[in-house]
Amino acid sequence: MRAIMAGVDVTEPILAARRLTRIVPNGRSTLTILHDIDLEVMPGEVLGIVGASGSGKSTLLALLAGLDQPSSGAVVLDRVDLASLDEDGRAAVRSRLVGFVFQSFQLIGSLTALENVMLPLELQGRLPIARIRERAVALLERVGLASRLQHSPRLLSGGEQQRVALARAFVVEPRILFADEPTGNLDAATGAEVIAMLIALNRERGTTLVIVTHDEAVAARCDRVVRIAAGVLAPGTLVAGTDRGLRA
Ligand SMILES: Nc1ncnc2c1ncn2[C@@H]1O[C@H](COP(=O)(O)OP(=O)(O)O)[C@@H](O)[C@H]1O
Ligand SMILES: [Mg+2]
Repeated sequence: MRAIMAGVDVTEPILAARRLTRIVPNGRSTLTILHDIDLEVMPGEVLGIVGASGSGKSTLLALLAGLDQPSSGAVVLDRVDLASLDEDGRAAVRSRLVGFVFQSFQLIGSLTALENVMLPLELQGRLPIARIRERAVALLERVGLASRLQHSPRLLSGGEQQRVALARAFVVEPRILFADEPTGNLDAATGAEVIAMLIALNRERGTTLVIVTHDEAVAARCDRVVRIAAGVLAPGTLVAGTDRGLRA
């Protein structure tokens, strides 16, 4: 049975992975980095994918976001089978639906904070520049950086840089956000602030959030956590939503 809320089907996953496998050449043999990953993410959910360094988290995120292609298996993002698209098609899906936050912030040093946040909307080319600026300013205000609009990222602290990156990720109004170790370059207190802000923005804007992390403090803030070890997702974590609410 389907649950319809405000005209939106909330029981259909926004993201599904089926038997996702990634194999790379390794000398004369091969290395299986991800093995038969099954995963569903429901709209609005904050999912943590937690595992040690080298367990395959970044590789998995790249496949889920359509940045990379699996050796076998499928990814369905917002009802679109990514394997049915070529690179341009996947880039179009990413631009329309997906936001990213990285461990290393990935801001452009030659642009101001405001220009960094405006850039994804300018690249989309759908809004007049005045509207783009308004939206970028509003988001930078929302993340507490109203007084840093004209700063170079080089002059900002790590926490401030990651808040600029959050504003940049949300400015395109993505349906789903992928964050790869978003606290990895921050101290514990700053990381906690950034995660709180990321989750608050996700709730406010009705987006969906997938965070990969090795940080248990981040995991504790997620609605649901799945664990990955040596490229395999822990059993019993296949069906999304069923254990929602069990975590306080
Ligand atoms: N293109 C590649 N070729 C060979 N090995 C790779 C490649 N990409 C990742 N790996 C290996 O796969 C494993 C998982 O990598 P990664 O997904 O980056 O892990 P994590 O993000 O959890 O630290 C690591 O052992 C890494 O060295
Ligand atoms: Mg990684």
